[in-house]
Amino acid sequence: MKKAVAARGVDLISLGIGDPDTPTFPHIVRALAEAAARPANHRYPDYEGLPAFRAAAAAFVRQRFGVTVDPATEVVSLIGSKEGIANMAVAFVDPGDIVLVPDPGYPVYGIGTLFNGGTAYAMPLTAKNGFLPDLAAIPEEIARRAKLMWLGYPNNPTAAVADGSFFARVVEFATRHNIIVAHDNAYSEIYYDQPPPSFLATPGAQALGIEFHSLSKTYNMTGWRIGFAIGNRDLIAGLGKVKTNVDSGVFQAVQEAGIAALSGDQTPVAALRALYRERRDLLLGALAALGLEAQPVRGTFYVWVRVPAGLTSAGLTARLLEEIGVVVTPGSGFGAAGEGYIRFSLTVPTERLREAVERLTTLKL
Ligand SMILES: Cc1ncc(COP(=O)(O)O)c(C=O)c1O
Repeated sequence: MKKAVAARGVDLISLGIGDPDTPTFPHIVRALAEAAARPANHRYPDYEGLPAFRAAAAAFVRQRFGVTVDPATEVVSLIGSKEGIANMAVAFVDPGDIVLVPDPGYPVYGIGTLFNGGTAYAMPLTAKNGFLPDLAAIPEEIARRAKLMWLGYPNNPTAAVADGSFFARVVEFATRHNIIVAHDNAYSEIYYDQPPPSFLATPGAQALGIEFHSLSKTYNMTGWRIGFAIGNRDLIAGLGKVKTNVDSGVFQAVQEAGIAALSGDQTPVAALRALYRERRDLLLGALAALGLEAQPVRGTFYVWVRVPAGLTSAGLTARLLEEIGVVVTPGSGFGAAGEGYIRFSLTVPTERLREAVERLTTLKL
């Protein structure tokens, strides 16, 4: 539909995909340029990551979250966190296994499960529960058979964050049912209030948890493909075992740039948060004026908006596209419980967002 509308000459504003529009910070680009020139970096990297990169990742999580991990055994580099999320299922999901996945949720959790013969059991995230799964609603039989649970806060697509008390309930539930908890923290640095916690900071979490981190959103590095996982050493070893067999790690020069990102000045990240805050407030104001109900945006650069009665996610998405040339993502694309919502992304230049907001005011719903 997007192609057809664009072919009519409509100037489309895409608030669909969450890909930062501002460039990677200059000191990181400089670090890559220098590292790329060094022949030592032109060879196969170690799949688990340069010791210096793993040490930088461990230092970052200690300083930011108060989580202590051994860089040698409890950290692995990833070719973007998506790679690790998908390979987590290769490592741990066997045919017939049940995996608990949030609905709506980042699609890779469920698809990774499916590709490896597992069955995804949806945990609905509803406004009533603050977009946190209701653990008590998971049937005993499912909990007993479940091998793995996926969570991700700050949450894509709902923009919710989780606190330590929710994570403590997760640890209790997962311990009782012997379930691995995989927490996706790709948006840890994109927040508007208190800095969100690491799942691994919860007492007991390191016994059963693994957490996925990404440099993509924090440092505007989506195209570079670098992230890391931290956590329980058996889980890191299992993921590492897959990686030795399917990939050969991250280009070392990119890892050196990653060290510059994680160990360097974090002031540009605060400036990025300020930029998203300005855009968030701009869009929230327009949605409120239009009578559209946005959910509280506590983290990520997404805005999760309820579709008015009488319309579907796909129906409202189509109308925004056809009538005002604004592209959003239908909530139903994130799972059945996403029906009734659409997702706006704040990753377009602010003046384009302003233009989208002006167009929204002309919409007659
Ligand atoms: C929730 C979530 N997790 C993980 C990722 C993957 O990020 P990357 O592979 O760039 O680290 C994304 C990307 O959009 C995401 O939205």
